[in-house]
Parts: sequence; structure tokens; C-alpha cells
Amino acid sequence: MAQESPTPAQIVSTWSGQARENAVQRMFTAIAGVYDLNNTLLSFGLHYRWKKIAASFVTPVEQGTALDVGAGTADLALLVEPRMGAQGRVVASDLNYAMLAEGQKKVAAKGRANVITCLQASAEHLGFADNTFDVVTTGFCMRNVGNLLQAVSEIRRVMKPGSRFVCLEFSRPVFSWLRALYDWYSFTLLPWVGTKVARDRTGVYEYLPASIRTFPDQERLCQILRTAGFQHVEYRNLTGGIVAIHVATK
Ligand SMILES: C[S@@+](CC[C@H](N)C(=O)[O-])C[C@H]1O[C@@H](n2cnc3c(N)ncnc32)[C@H](O)[C@@H]1O
Repeated sequence: MAQESPTPAQIVSTWSGQARENAVQRMFTAIAGVYDLNNTLLSFGLHYRWKKIAASFVTPVEQGTALDVGAGTADLALLVEPRMGAQGRVVASDLNYAMLAEGQKKVAAKGRANVITCLQASAEHLGFADNTFDVVTTGFCMRNVGNLLQAVSEIRRVMKPGSRFVCLEFSRPVFSWLRALYDWYSFTLLPWVGTKVARDRTGVYEYLPASIRTFPDQERLCQILRTAGFQHVEYRNLTGGIVAIHVATK
């Protein structure tokens, strides 16, 4: 009997762990080729600015080694790389092969393939030795992982003591008028554009707002990072809290 695909609401609310991760990965495979264009359109071009600000939280080091988790099309990895010094190295890791292939193309086109390595790995099982990296970054990935606490604990494990984790993710707008506007955009306009204009069949336009709504808000994410063992956990809201950058120290 043919298996029915889960709805976006099922993926975020009732599914967890491996089943959720598989469904999310199918979606990223389907949209990988248009991910950058979609991102620019849906965020009104803001996503790149958000990533630049996130990269500015990475302390420059000499001969540094950085890891960008859920790197996708490698924007953040490319922004972090100049902060790792002349002999620096960056690993851009992602679970999804199709997204990573787009990232690899971009890295090669920018002539950075000798310093940025694209590698397929799950955020929950990174496969590196303890205390490997001078910094770990992630952009818009944590919302998608099957087990958030496991992912941030695994990230902490591979970080050197004293190093920083910089996490860029959608969060909760701080003003009630902005929340109302954002909800209308996310739950009315976006699904309408998805079905009527983009004729989307992947469900990504419904998954995106649903995953943002169910992701821990600023304070809750701080608690989760502390539970994973991080210290000095702080965050900065961008665009009224639509997005937040959490910075945490091992
Ligand atoms: C919204 S995209 C963000 C890509 C990129 N970081 C950016 O900011 O444009 C989320 C990425 O996280 C990846 N991802 C989702 N779950 C993951 C997991 N468990 N482990 C590693 N990567 C994951 C997806 O494959 C996807 O490429």
C-alpha cells in the first residue's frame, strides 16, 4: 500500500526524531536548486544581512578551524572563513547532499574550495573528535533537527574549551503588532504564494512558518543551551526578534 506523505503540520507537531528528520530532508532535497532565490524573495533580501551580523560574532583567530552546521548553500561558511586567518580552515557540514552540492558549487565559484570543505554529517552525530573547533556557527538549521538538545550537546562536544557557538535562527517577534503582521505573512500570504504562485508541491511554504512557530523562543533556547552545558549564553534580536543570534561559550 502506498505510504501517504505527512503534512507540514504533522512534521512539526506530532513527528519527532528520525521520522521528522527524514521528512524535512526530502523537502530540502526538492528545493535545493532554488533555495537561495527563495530565501532572498521570502526574506526580502534580509537573510544575507542577518548572516553577516552572525558572522561578526565570530572572534577572529589565526590558523583557526571553524565548523558551520547545516551549512546548506554555504553563505555563512563563506562569511566565517576570512575570520579564521590566513591558514584557517572551515568545514561546512550538512545532512542533505543536494543542499551541500549547491554549497560546494558556490564555494568553488568563489575560489575557496581549498579552505572550505563541504561534508555530509548530521548535527546530532557530527563525527569529529572532542574539542576540535575554534568556533561553531549555524544558520537556520537548528529548527529542523530531529533532537535539538542532542544537536547542541553534540556541537558543544566538538568545540574547544572557551570557544563560541553562534546560532542564527528564527525566533519570536518582540512587538505584538509585528507578531500579528508576521503571522499574517506566514500563515496566510506565504501558503497562498506557495500554492497559487509557485505551485509548490513540497509543502515547504507551510512547513517554514509551522517550524518557526514551534521552535523555542529566545529565552527557551537560552535554557536549552545552558542544559547542554554552555555558559555565558546571550542573544541579540534582529528585525524586531523575527530572527535572533544566540552566542554561547563552552
Ligand atoms: C534552512 S537551511 C539553512 C541553510 C544555510 N545555513 C543558510 O543559512 O542559508 C537548513 C539546513 O539545515 C540542514 N539540516 C536539517 N537538519 C539537519 C541535521 N539534522 N543535521 C545537519 N543538517 C541539517 C538542511 O539540510 C538544510 O540545508
